[in-house]
Amino acid sequence: MMTAIEQYPDGMMLARAAAVRVIALAGEAIGAHGCFTIAMAGGNTPRALCRLLAHPSCSEQVDWQQVHVFWGDERCVPPDNADSNYRMAAETLLTHVPVSHGNIHRMRGELSPPEAAREYEAELRAFFTGDAFPRFDLVLLGLGGDAHTASLFPETDALHETRRWTVANTVPQLQSWRLTLTVPAINSAKAVIFLVEGENKAQAVHDVLCGPWDPCHLPAQLITPTDGDLFWMLDTPAAGLLPPGG
Ligand code: 6PG
Repeated sequence: MMTAIEQYPDGMMLARAAAVRVIALAGEAIGAHGCFTIAMAGGNTPRALCRLLAHPSCSEQVDWQQVHVFWGDERCVPPDNADSNYRMAAETLLTHVPVSHGNIHRMRGELSPPEAAREYEAELRAFFTGDAFPRFDLVLLGLGGDAHTASLFPETDALHETRRWTVANTVPQLQSWRLTLTVPAINSAKAVIFLVEGENKAQAVHDVLCGPWDPCHLPAQLITPTDGDLFWMLDTPAAGLLPPGG
């Protein structure tokens, strides 16, 4: 287990470094146990990474038939909605690579939130049979300016969930529901990557990594893989408030 804090000059260099790491983790996982399970992040930051992974220079390095795609969180909207995290991944990556349709495990945001969460947890438990929590090969996460990650928002109920793998989380800040993996479900991963870009995230990065323990207001502090590696992959602006050396 290790924690690495890495800084890259700009968004493109960050995306390139993340693509190299995803390709390496995929090759290791497929070589070790015949498949690669990745939980995708939502939002906009992963777009550059997804587009890069869809480019032949990257996509030809991945055995997509052995890749299973999950999500770390989803908005409570249909898959064709502009806010859908599934739609973002489909448009930038999944429709451009030969991943098997049956290996795309979408959170069904079009269902009632509690029903969608129950259904997704059942799908995870059927896939990761026998595990106390889902042992993803990689969970890809973003970071909000309020230090939320996935849909684990400050002062929301999901932060306190210790048994479930997936929950519906009501987010007053957004006046909406979200679907999200829980903290223990994320922390059971073999590898977690925080992919964070932009000066607008610098304060949150600083507070999470250097500030006092305050997970209710800084939920990303809760992400500490129990038996896995944690990579903070930052562009220089996002790392701007970290002390020299990270
Ligand atoms: C989502 C997320 C969320 C996201 C952060 C950063 O569904 O929005 O999963 O946790 O990663 O809000 O979003 P940006 O990458 O758009 O800044």
